[in-house]
Amino acid sequence: MHIDQYERTWLMLVVAVLAIFFAALVAGAVVYGVRLPEPVGRVNPNMLQDTAFANPGLYYTGDTPEGRPHYDLYVLAQKWNFDAGSSESEGRHQIIRIPQGAEVTIYVTSRDITHGLIIEHHNVNFEVVPGEVAAITAVFNRPGEYGILCHEYCGIQHHAMWMKLIVEAPAEDAAASQ
Ligand code: CUA
Repeated sequence: MHIDQYERTWLMLVVAVLAIFFAALVAGAVVYGVRLPEPVGRVNPNMLQDTAFANPGLYYTGDTPEGRPHYDLYVLAQKWNFDAGSSESEGRHQIIRIPQGAEVTIYVTSRDITHGLIIEHHNVNFEVVPGEVAAITAVFNRPGEYGILCHEYCGIQHHAMWMKLIVEAPAEDAAASQ
């Protein structure tokens, strides 16, 4: 079978581009640890009082085999705030504190409409759909303050829908740096 020279070149280009995309996918998953948030369950948005989202919050669940403290964080998204059960806040924006090195499994759902949730500088990026529980596990190694933001347009106060995560360095580090 005769294949025209140009045809052959384009075919090879297409194969090469596909190979590059596939390599990028594999590298992302294996080398960079990219994970998509998974829907882990369904809830009736009108019956949240019967679920773990009745008491959103940060719950210590023990240490991981690597010695990291592990937490479950339940977040309820609604127009127009995130409720993570924290009593500390900046105005109506809650503040969550975790120790440096903590591993956190974040569970999130929406009470009303579709929202988003990203954590600055971390591999945490959800679409928050009412009726669905999404979960992802992330490790927080760098001390600092990180915004937790709604990044899906959800109405007039969308821009004001955020809270804050503070990753705290151990106290002896703070003392040593003074
Ligand atoms: Cu919630 Cu935008």
